[in-house]
Amino acid sequence: MNEWVVVELKYSEEIIRQVAEANDLVELISQYVTLKKSGHNHMGCCPFHNEKTPSFSVSAEKQMYHCFGCGVGGNIYTFVQQMENMSFVEALEYLADRAGIQLPKTYDPVAEEGYRKKQRLWECHRLAANFYYKNLVNTPVAQRYLKQRGFSGETIRHFGMGVSSGRRDDLYKFLKSKSFSDEELVESGLVMKGDRGNYYDRFRNRIMIPIVSAQDKVIGFGGREYLEGNTKGPKYLNSPETPVFSKSFELFNLNHAKRNIRNESFVITEGYMDVMALVQHGIPNCVAALGTAFTPYHVKTLSRYVKEVILCFDGDEAGKNATIKAIALLKNSPLNVRIIRLDPSDDPDSFVKKHGLAAFQEKIRQAITVDEFELNGLKEQYDTGSNDGRVKYLNAVVHLLKDVKNPMAMELYVKKAAREGNVSETVLLQEIRKRQNNLQRSASDAFEASLSQPKGKQIPKAYQDAQCYVLKQLLSNPELAKNELDENDFSPGILRRIYVAVMAEAATGAVPISLPALNLRLPNEKDQNILSQIVLSENDALEWTECIACIKSYSEVKKDKQRLRSIQMDAANDAEKLAQLNGLLQQHRND
Ligand code: GTP
Ligand code: MN
Repeated sequence: MNEWVVVELKYSEEIIRQVAEANDLVELISQYVTLKKSGHNHMGCCPFHNEKTPSFSVSAEKQMYHCFGCGVGGNIYTFVQQMENMSFVEALEYLADRAGIQLPKTYDPVAEEGYRKKQRLWECHRLAANFYYKNLVNTPVAQRYLKQRGFSGETIRHFGMGVSSGRRDDLYKFLKSKSFSDEELVESGLVMKGDRGNYYDRFRNRIMIPIVSAQDKVIGFGGREYLEGNTKGPKYLNSPETPVFSKSFELFNLNHAKRNIRNESFVITEGYMDVMALVQHGIPNCVAALGTAFTPYHVKTLSRYVKEVILCFDGDEAGKNATIKAIALLKNSPLNVRIIRLDPSDDPDSFVKKHGLAAFQEKIRQAITVDEFELNGLKEQYDTGSNDGRVKYLNAVVHLLKDVKNPMAMELYVKKAAREGNVSETVLLQEIRKRQNNLQRSASDAFEASLSQPKGKQIPKAYQDAQCYVLKQLLSNPELAKNELDENDFSPGILRRIYVAVMAEAATGAVPISLPALNLRLPNEKDQNILSQIVLSENDALEWTECIACIKSYSEVKKDKQRLRSIQMDAANDAEKLAQLNGLLQQHRND
């Protein structure tokens, strides 16, 4: 797993460049997603997150890609690594094979060196884990702490829990005796160097929990304080980032969980103490991030093993917010997500100790979907005790439920929300259907209604479609407007207002441009509706350059008409102007 972090360079720079040049990024990516040329780049839907509007841009010239939606980006190697779950070397070999290049058999000494270094760090951690484990035998107060927390001897052995002593450099001395150098020990994160060149242990007076990689290597530690009245440091202290440990990639207990998958799912908790308690009580398929928020890498790793994750974070407000954040990340993944919420005073650890395995299994069975979780959230957000609050609640419900695909789920949610909002299910369902139909109408149809201009001044359909398409593209890549467009190219009114808002937002550097941010710049609700129709429109048959040409030609005609009108006004009493006017008219007749 750490191949992501430390690139193992077995091959020379020269070869790496040669192989990259022998492949074409645009052609390679076209195997996975449909790309369309758009200005200098190619655009398509991002293969790394779910989206309907293309925000994934590939540059043939630079041989780079970037998604304005989820922020991934890189070169041909990173693309293959992420797409195919390969290490750098595997990606290199794959691309060389693809281009028919024979790789030299000799390995780069630098790479060998890097791998040896990692092996030394793994060994150093393995010895440290043993050392802390053995310490536990001589530290009854630590044993008492673990026992009082409810951990059995078997669980302690299973996870290799141990304890660090209160002395300055116990571990340092032990590892030195195993012939590790000072530099190696500092690099491992287990030892720190003081101002006066002295060395001391990072972890003191803590229960030590080994963090083990999916390949069963000890790569770091979590340390929990356990001595009463000794609360100088933080409750938990974890290993720092090292060549073998990266918090944003690793998941606690993944090595065991991946061998004990139940119902193709993992339970995910906030803390590793929760994981160990659940495992002890008979839920082996659970993992936790390591004191950081969930990252896209965690999501990717999880989706290699299971189809579903069940989020079971702490019952408090912080746990709820962490759940919301995790859901946002997981929405862009193929993983199915269900959620367990506990009482505010509980976390999975305390729950399973109080209520036991059967109760937790029941919680798993009853785990709710993301839609249900969000529906519950809406109820908390609005005051359904007042009519005004109920209307707001129901509007939000309509917005949420319009995307629900499963008819049975829809019926259940509608029932529940209708009861909360004190309206009939029929009316609520009607509103939802109306919204769905609206979305199905194409953006231009919707415009016909929304833009019905006074004095019969309709915008020609081609001009309107072109503007919508271009505006939609600009949301993910406002750079495209540079040297191509200005606000006068857009028809006066809403479309021009949107263009101005997009450019103003782009000027703040916020790319891709988010709808909420734009809505703040378009306070009129009608404008906001049109904007969402543009965003949701599927005018994929259009093409950037054609749209620009179309917009330009209409805006030229507009400018000419204006010029004509102003000359006409003056011409009445100006012979020279009259001649000019005739010239212009002549020219137009010739067009
Ligand atoms: P107990 O209080 O021992 O039951 O732990 P818990 O599992 O309830 O921990 P909590 O919910 O407070 O925190 C969850 C996770 O966040 C822990 O497993 C740690 O990884 C991390 N964490 C909590 N407190 C700290 C801290 O003070 N420092 C760091 N670095 N991480 C922390
Ligand atoms: Mn706890």
